[in-house]
Amino acid sequence: MNKIRLGVNIDHVATVRNARGENYPSPLRAAILAEKCGAHSVTIHLREDRRHINDLDLKEIKLKLKIPLNLEIAATSEMLKIAIRHQPDFVCIVPEKRKEITTEGGLNLNYNQIFLKKIITKLKKNNSRVSLFIEPNIKDIKISNYLDVDAIEFHTGKICNLINQGKPFKAELSKLNKAVNYATDLGLEVHAGHGLTYESAKIISKIKKIKEFNIGHFLIGESIYIGLQNAIKKFQKILK
Ligand code: PXP
Repeated sequence: MNKIRLGVNIDHVATVRNARGENYPSPLRAAILAEKCGAHSVTIHLREDRRHINDLDLKEIKLKLKIPLNLEIAATSEMLKIAIRHQPDFVCIVPEKRKEITTEGGLNLNYNQIFLKKIITKLKKNNSRVSLFIEPNIKDIKISNYLDVDAIEFHTGKICNLINQGKPFKAELSKLNKAVNYATDLGLEVHAGHGLTYESAKIISKIKKIKEFNIGHFLIGESIYIGLQNAIKKFQKILK
């Protein structure tokens, strides 16, 4: 059976650390533990305001981690320079607004395409694989393909909210399924992430062409009760 890869997003280990301005809990320790538990990759989002992961976290994690590192960045010159310097295995370009609590939707690809293309070309030349965090719609998939990325990650926030609130989600699941098929046929690798829980991961993982799930907030929250190791194992079982 095809196994979907699990990328573990550890941003919120840093959120807890930063809440008290201490040097614990350590995102590096969480990254290494995720590696030991068989996570396929570790994801970190270096936000422009450094609200969770900071530059030192990135440096240490990149140095010590043996599994692939997926660095999420906004499309800015500062972040491009940082990504070029640290050369993560994957760079996922995400939208960023200072005032949002989390990444609320996919990238707006209606503008900025020339700048995006420039960034993508530079990152790929620097041997990072590049993905774009987008909404599951055909127009954005076509633009992503034109921009020549290696992968796209579909924002699953909408469907996860519906599932988590016990609302009808079948139409959204069907839309996601169509988008996955369309992108895969174009040769794009498809990832998915945002708001995933055990329940929503189980439902969405029925779409077998999705190659990778990136999961953070819920998984780190679950770790409080059952430990990071067990939370990772539970998700791995779901994604089998
Ligand atoms: N994938 C991307 C591109 C993200 O930006 C995030 C964080 O918003 C996630 C996955 C993980 O989302 P969550 O923390 O809700 O699991």
